[in-house]
Amino acid sequence: MRPEEKQSDLQTPPAPAVDESIASGGDRLPEHERREFEKAVLEGLRARPRRLPCKYFYDVRGSQLFDRICETEEYYVTRAELSILEENAAEMARQIGPRAAILEPGAGSLHKIRLLLPEMPDLAAYLPTDISGRHLHNAARQLSREFPRISIHPEVLDFHDVEGWGRLFESHAAARRVVFFPGSTIGNYQPQEAQRFLNQIASRLHAKDGILIGVDLVKDRATLEAAYNDHAGYTAAFNKNLLTRINRELQGDLRLNHFEHHARFHAEQSRIEMHLVSKVDQIFHVAGHRFAMKKGDSIHTENSCKYTIDAFTKLAVAAGLRRACAWTDADELFSVHYLQVV
Ligand code: AVI
Repeated sequence: MRPEEKQSDLQTPPAPAVDESIASGGDRLPEHERREFEKAVLEGLRARPRRLPCKYFYDVRGSQLFDRICETEEYYVTRAELSILEENAAEMARQIGPRAAILEPGAGSLHKIRLLLPEMPDLAAYLPTDISGRHLHNAARQLSREFPRISIHPEVLDFHDVEGWGRLFESHAAARRVVFFPGSTIGNYQPQEAQRFLNQIASRLHAKDGILIGVDLVKDRATLEAAYNDHAGYTAAFNKNLLTRINRELQGDLRLNHFEHHARFHAEQSRIEMHLVSKVDQIFHVAGHRFAMKKGDSIHTENSCKYTIDAFTKLAVAAGLRRACAWTDADELFSVHYLQVV
């Protein structure tokens, strides 16, 4: 470290408007995952354009920041989806049919399923999965207290472990298998990857089984860009937290105040792109490797694809599914689709 560098620049930024109560990290990946993280970061920083995988946003602090984003005025996504689930839960339950097993990957705090469960008293099983075991088990215990007659089986699983989902479904007899995939996480995949992922899921299901999935809709640029540039600064802190995580887990010396959060809508690709843009010419190190960036160079950290109902339906059809139903909120900001395996 050069003498003029302050240690505090390398750590979690006390981003001006961000609540101090948010944890400052401290969680670490198991060694094999840390090595995978290192490989992805080194490859991404050497690539042109530079990139970092968005799945690494979600350490403890990143997950807490994401929860705060969901509560901001500007991030309409969560509110719009909740209103769709609230208003259409009965019809969703009817589409899904009796004695289904519902598996929810990356289920987190189990908020959204609460809106569906009252309409599904004969559910065969609810199978929430998440990478964070403690959080998942606490949330599942709370949910069991609220819905004592529903059979709830939490399972610690990586979000992408579709094989693991297959095993879970196998161990719970049900008339129908349904994957509940809210939040428009599918938007963080490129359309081709999204199609492949849906196809992979469909291949673990049987004919008439389904996927209940939240999908963010294309809309005016101002609304979209405001959602990823909230005034309180949570999205900027969420984006920069990736650098904090690299510093902590990969012995980095990135200075957070040398980067700026950028989020813009790219209409041709129909996606919000998030970037970390260098404010200065700089040199930094990660896991003993040296990197240089010029002022204005950027690291692409996330895509968030936005669809029309038709465009998403086409993608689902190409993945071997049919759209049984699609719902939107009153302002047509967001959509929830029920897709069935053909
Ligand atoms: C998780 N995912 C759907 C969010 C999104 O909108 O793409 C992640 C996010 N990134 C910035 N704000 C929220």
